[in-house]
Amino acid sequence: MVSFPRIIDMGDFRLVKLEPTAQNAERLLSVINANREFLGEFLEWVDGYTTTDKTLANIEKSYCDDKCSYFIMEADDIVGKIGFVDTDDNMGEISYWLAHGFNGRGIMTRVLNKLTEIGFADMRLQRIQLTLDKQNIRSAAVALRCGYECEGVLRKYFVLRGVPRDMKMFSKVAV
Ligand SMILES: CC(C)(COP(=O)(O)OP(=O)(O)OC[C@H]1O[C@@H](n2cnc3c(N)ncnc32)[C@H](O)[C@@H]1OP(=O)(O)O)[C@@H](O)C(=O)NCCC(=O)NCCS
Repeated sequence: MVSFPRIIDMGDFRLVKLEPTAQNAERLLSVINANREFLGEFLEWVDGYTTTDKTLANIEKSYCDDKCSYFIMEADDIVGKIGFVDTDDNMGEISYWLAHGFNGRGIMTRVLNKLTEIGFADMRLQRIQLTLDKQNIRSAAVALRCGYECEGVLRKYFVLRGVPRDMKMFSKVAV
């Protein structure tokens, strides 16, 4: 079993396993509240994150040593999250989000590259995948910048607030 570090220093920001405290649960909830509309366009889970019970549970899940899941912190601010959400011995799926005010600076490109490197080198995965809404242009641009390839469109693959959505499957494989 791979044990992941608590902090990964990226120079001007850090990837952190936040301590599951009431204060951090409050901080995460306020970031989600401030970005609810922006994140909610493609991520339905934000609808359920309205209490500190939910944000605390989310922080707890990422805190385990055997989970490759990190909050993105700039100075003392929580600015986003990235992690493997589904993994087996062969492949892993990564999911991510970045607060609106921190978009456009290349943070997610650097972070996805970092997790991809960990996925192949430390987790010894053969395949890493990203499932993106077909309309999520910014996310597709991040995937392409990190060397992921679009394998095709999964028609009506995911239901977002009752509406079936076409998704794009991106992947990168070990060389
Ligand atoms: C998807 C998401 C993470 C993309 O964020 P982003 O800020 O566009 O991505 P990056 O951090 O890689 O930044 C890329 C931008 O920074 C610029 N940039 C600046 N320096 C850069 C660098 N060193 N490397 C790469 N890009 C850089 C790029 O040119 C690009 O600019 P653009 O906005 O004019 O196209 C973000 O929009 C988001 O969280 N959206 C809502 C949630 C979501 O959809 N999550 C994904 C679900 S699958």
